[in-house]
Amino acid sequence: MSLEGRRIVLGVSGGIAAYKAPDLVRRLRDAGASVRVVMTRGAESFVSPMTFQAVSGHPVHDTLWSAEAEAAMGHIDLARWADLVLVAPATANVMARLAHGLADDLLTTLILATESPVCIAPAMNHQMWLHPATQGNLTVLEDRGVAIMGPGAGDQACGETGPGRMLEPQDLADRVQLLLGRAGTLAGVKVLVTAGPTLEDLDPVRFLGNRSSGKMGFAVAEAARRLGAEVTLVAGPVSLDTPAGVERVNVRSAQEMYAAVMQRAADSDIYVGAAAVADFRPKLASEEKIKKGTEDFQTIELVRNPDILAAVAGSENAPFTVGFAAETSDVEQYARGKLDKKKIDMIAANRVGVDHQGFDCGDNALTVLWNEGRQDLALQPKSSLAGALMQLVEERFRTARDE
Ligand code: C5P
Repeated sequence: MSLEGRRIVLGVSGGIAAYKAPDLVRRLRDAGASVRVVMTRGAESFVSPMTFQAVSGHPVHDTLWSAEAEAAMGHIDLARWADLVLVAPATANVMARLAHGLADDLLTTLILATESPVCIAPAMNHQMWLHPATQGNLTVLEDRGVAIMGPGAGDQACGETGPGRMLEPQDLADRVQLLLGRAGTLAGVKVLVTAGPTLEDLDPVRFLGNRSSGKMGFAVAEAARRLGAEVTLVAGPVSLDTPAGVERVNVRSAQEMYAAVMQRAADSDIYVGAAAVADFRPKLASEEKIKKGTEDFQTIELVRNPDILAAVAGSENAPFTVGFAAETSDVEQYARGKLDKKKIDMIAANRVGVDHQGFDCGDNALTVLWNEGRQDLALQPKSSLAGALMQLVEERFRTARDE
């Protein structure tokens, strides 16, 4: 994936991590991007504008109040020019100013004026990061669609340890490529992925759930994005970061997941159902907390949830459908049965209940089955496994489309 022809405004604000920003400019340019640097006054206390001019190949923009600069490429021109505005490092102060919509310098003004995506790489002392004011601003920015990259945890310039380190330049450049990249073998292909468990409420505090971590589905979404696809991820309740460049829709119950998926299925080319959807839900979910002694609690009557995968496969204009099968025994036999019964194009089967594999852990192995064939994917981290799976999916998807 490359950034060839993409235009990035890099906003640098005044934190010690600013010393890494020139390296970030180089890595973005190495990937093919044109970069214009906008510095805040604080940033200029850490790194000289000359450094950024040298690595970006363009003069630095640092003020709203220069008639000459405004005539050359003013704040509105910069805002329009950018395909993406990345603020790295983003200090607590810049996050607060962005959250409140202030326009008191060039960077904040052009961010208000741009229609392009904005992302920030926060960097600050861990106490400042964890302060409720910063966390509140973070929520505001996230809700507004700003992509948040990091921060990482570890040693800090102040000598303390904790969350607040800016992500490394190469990691940031990779994430920008995921956000903006339009190259790749799946460019122009729409992929819909489900991930995580569904939770079925009994009352306002209790639910029936399962141990799915969501890692496999999130890794599949990221792998599809790496191949250049337009990815939507419908996720049950999990605490995982959204992969860069992926649109996420959060749901809780199987019924909510069904609605979110069916709304998007006809417009998708590939559907990967990696969620562990609860097969049943309580017939009645009480609006009040059920009391310990009541009869209601001794027997829970269940009703079936819709089978989302089968519904997608059976729908009009069905996408290429891929399901997962988690079994504790006779994995392949059950999986093939599911392939036929649900009339899906492909199924990825894994054995659960085995140590260090499958549910709720980082590694997995899969046996992938389709009508005419099969392939084993060896035990490996879910991220690389998802890459191998998506390559297989792509091959089968193309074959199916050409038939
Ligand atoms: O039948 P079983 O639950 O084992 O099938 C697993 C596959 O079916 C997974 O891909 C899962 O996402 C999907 N599924 C579904 N809706 C359900 C149950 C399972 O989409 N209600």
